[in-house]
Amino acid sequence: MNRMPPELDDRAHPASPAAYDAIAAGYAAENESNLINAHYERPAMLDLAGDVAGRRILDAGCGAGPLSAALRERGAQVSGFDASAAMLELARRRLGPDVDLRVADLGEPLPYPDAAFDDVVASLVLHYLRDWGPALAELRRVLVPGGRLIASVDHPFALTLLRRLAGEKADYFGVTARTEEWAMGGGTTQLTFWDRPLHAMTDAFTAAGFGIDVISEPPPAAAAYDLFPDEFRDLTSTSFLSFLFFVLRAG
Ligand SMILES: C[S@@+](CC[C@H](N)C(=O)[O-])C[C@H]1O[C@@H](n2cnc3c(N)ncnc32)[C@H](O)[C@@H]1O
Repeated sequence: MNRMPPELDDRAHPASPAAYDAIAAGYAAENESNLINAHYERPAMLDLAGDVAGRRILDAGCGAGPLSAALRERGAQVSGFDASAAMLELARRRLGPDVDLRVADLGEPLPYPDAAFDDVVASLVLHYLRDWGPALAELRRVLVPGGRLIASVDHPFALTLLRRLAGEKADYFGVTARTEEWAMGGGTTQLTFWDRPLHAMTDAFTAAGFGIDVISEPPPAAAAYDLFPDEFRDLTSTSFLSFLFFVLRAG
């Protein structure tokens, strides 16, 4: 069965890899200390990465570079790329001139040789792509055999749940575009996310030659409960569904 959305969706939701340019400073500031990025997503990625001392790590969709910085503090040799020149400029200021940072589009051929990295981290970037095949093929190409792709994406169950709670029809099994307007730091932009079911994610990983080591739904970092008590007051568990995390192994 063809699960791709009709062509009309492409015109209604044009690809916009540089869409973060308009909100770069505002997004980076928010990401630095909020619950979702600073106290949930980033600690989870670092936990999954484990001991990275001496590893060559590519940060795909590095944004302003907070994960790169944390990996470097732990002894990794980091490189990064992002489609947004404005985000990359913030990463440059944070990481300094010695880190290899490039403007590049995940989904297009990447400007790195084969087997250049021991790990790739891809925090919250794959869900901007309609077709994961070319991106995953490139990420596998730049990894050494046995190297890891550690990725986080919007949790597919959470999205369906939220849409249904909002009274919308939500097709969990489709690959569907969702365009949101984000206003941050005085800038406004349209971001298009491509939602897909869990099996479409795992199928794409295995088709690209990755084995699946871990699928993770971690809790936030311990400090989050004291820092953001209101966010947890009505929850029935100490965790929440927001992102889904994978550790994949290049075959
Ligand atoms: C949600 S932000 C996450 C940034 C960073 N990974 C972090 O966790 O702080 C998503 C980033 O992906 C970048 N991005 C979106 N589409 C991209 C693409 N096709 N190629 C490269 N980067 C992309 C955006 O410019 C943005 O910096």
